Amino acid sequence: MPDALLIARGVEAGYGSRQVLFGVDFDINEGEAVALLGANGSGKSTLLNALSGFVRPRRGSIRLDGMELAGLPPHRTFRRGIVQVSQARDLFPEMSVDENLRLGAWTKRGDAARLRDRVYASFPRLFERRGQMVRLMSGGEQQMVAIGRALMSEPRVLLLDEPSGGLAPAFVSEIAAIVAALKRQRVTMVMVEQNLRLALSVADRILVLRDGAVAEQRGGNADEEEIVRQIYL
Ligand SMILES: Nc1ncnc2c1ncn2[C@@H]1O[C@H](COP(=O)(O)OP(=O)(O)O)[C@@H](O)[C@H]1O
Ligand SMILES: [Mg+2]
Repeated sequence: MPDALLIARGVEAGYGSRQVLFGVDFDINEGEAVALLGANGSGKSTLLNALSGFVRPRRGSIRLDGMELAGLPPHRTFRRGIVQVSQARDLFPEMSVDENLRLGAWTKRGDAARLRDRVYASFPRLFERRGQMVRLMSGGEQQMVAIGRALMSEPRVLLLDEPSGGLAPAFVSEIAAIVAALKRQRVTMVMVEQNLRLALSVADRILVLRDGAVAEQRGGNADEEEIVRQIYL
């Protein structure tokens, strides 16, 4: 068995005097889709931010292909291929879809046109609306732009923070279809998701975060009620 693509060991992180993560360990294999579950406030976003460098880990190791990432700023982890779609999506609302996508390719300037064509092939709706200002789009469409922009850099590991969060039910199934398509393309993913059904429908493996550490690891065929107990009880 080759080493995992992304290996976290003893990751601790927090904000000021408030520690949130107390020693997180996990391995993510290349091509794997992992769902990160846990109650509200359990530290899921903090963990994604520690992986991408937006929160600086206090202790521990995060290795991608054997290279240490812990302590690197976000633009350096991005260059190594850790690309995050945050809960806030962080788009440029006054810019068009096309401009937002281009900005995702800042590490791949020569390839931007090819990468953009590929994103438009996967998201025909974005192609139709490529000239539209992002501010005028629905939440579900904005989530598509955010995911499309992340794909513009050909990530080694895609981090998705609640992709279905705050979306109308019709869009939740569309986001589920997008995530399923990414999985078929073997994009390595760590996805935080409150929608358990969505998470279980795509995940090869489930990690449950509790008290700032990984409390449980299950295969993607895990029983829904059992997982709910692990998360909330
Ligand atoms: N920027 C911040 N400053 C201070 N505390 C924060 C900040 N972001 C999150 N927290 C706190 O850290 C804990 C974990 O938050 P978070 O990682 O966002 O949880 P989750 O994503 O699982 O809901 C919560 O208690 C939250 O209030
Ligand atoms: Mg969160």
